Amino acid sequence: MTNRRSATHTPVMLPEVLKALDVQPGGRYIDCTLGGGGHAAAILEHSSPGGQLLGIEADPSALEVAKERLQYFKASTLLVNDNFTNLQTICIKYDFFPVHGILLDLGLSSMQLSEQGRGFSFQYDAPLDMRVNPAQKQDAAGIVNTYPEAKLAEILKTYGEEPFSARIARSIVNARPLTTTLQLAGLIEKTVGRRGKIHPATRTFQALRIAVNHELENLESALRQAVDMLGYQGKLVVISYHSLEDRIVKQFIQKEARGCICPPSAPVCTCDHEPRLRILNKKVITPSEMELRENPRSRSAKLRTTERIAMRNDTYTIPENESFFDSDVSRGWRRPVLLQKIKMVFLTAS
Ligand SMILES: C[S@@+](CC[C@H](N)C(=O)[O-])C[C@H]1O[C@@H](n2cnc3c(N)ncnc32)[C@H](O)[C@@H]1O
Repeated sequence: MTNRRSATHTPVMLPEVLKALDVQPGGRYIDCTLGGGGHAAAILEHSSPGGQLLGIEADPSALEVAKERLQYFKASTLLVNDNFTNLQTICIKYDFFPVHGILLDLGLSSMQLSEQGRGFSFQYDAPLDMRVNPAQKQDAAGIVNTYPEAKLAEILKTYGEEPFSARIARSIVNARPLTTTLQLAGLIEKTVGRRGKIHPATRTFQALRIAVNHELENLESALRQAVDMLGYQGKLVVISYHSLEDRIVKQFIQKEARGCICPPSAPVCTCDHEPRLRILNKKVITPSEMELRENPRSRSAKLRTTERIAMRNDTYTIPENESFFDSDVSRGWRRPVLLQKIKMVFLTAS
């Protein structure tokens, strides 16, 4: 059995992340995907003295690893076992907004991938689990063994971009119940054969993992909330690892960076949409040759970075010569707007 702690996670594009977040002493940052705490430790080092970090992690055992790693920075960190889809609620609960930067380093850590028993990889035989948070009810076995064939095929096609989705879904349904990773991987190999270097089960495993953990819906929701938590010129930095994630990030950023979003055929603008973000890297940032050599797991990483800009109704002032790092300015920034929003939620609910 592989011990979770025998595998460590090397933070991806670390210098690029620190630069993109523009980490500065006294800054407040949120790491929405704490993992092993590698990025978090570097953010805390570079924001010292006075820096603060809110770390969010859905996997309780990953959080324990991060806690150990960040022990030295205990006084400046707040580590929460939660899903980043609750970002705004967490920030409000702990009074941790607005912030200077937010990081989302998506996917799974090397620790999770190499841990037997979690079912993320078909390199080890394990129950079909794939839950990032083991407290969640739905696991991969539930999907594989109970979903109708058409729905299963749809998941494989949409989340795995699997060209043989229908064929694989059919053979899964015929072979039920399937209980382990090797059973499923073997069945897929038998169904579609093996060509090239990539194992034919790779896409199906990606699709199931995305479906089990609602990865794409969570990402969309977290991005929307993140913009509200950023202070003026606060940075939103996202590292994605596959094209579905990157497409969501790219489209979100492009929309938030645009003014009018009316269809081109509209004679006049009726959307009243205002840009909230400024794109800082027009070209996506990828790992250096050296990083690719040293950490092959970084090969699919894509980093996008943006900055919060001012909107018409933002209720803040930045007096001349005063920076967001002056705490009075940063703490009060945009709070009235956010409180208004919360009030609206309460009114709708009652
Ligand atoms: C690639 S790892 C992050 C590694 C981290 N940056 C480091 O340097 O150690 C992604 C982490 O995000 C966590 N995660 C994935 N989805 C999440 C979600 N919706 N909410 C909170 N954490 C999530 C995973 O459990 C995993 O530990």
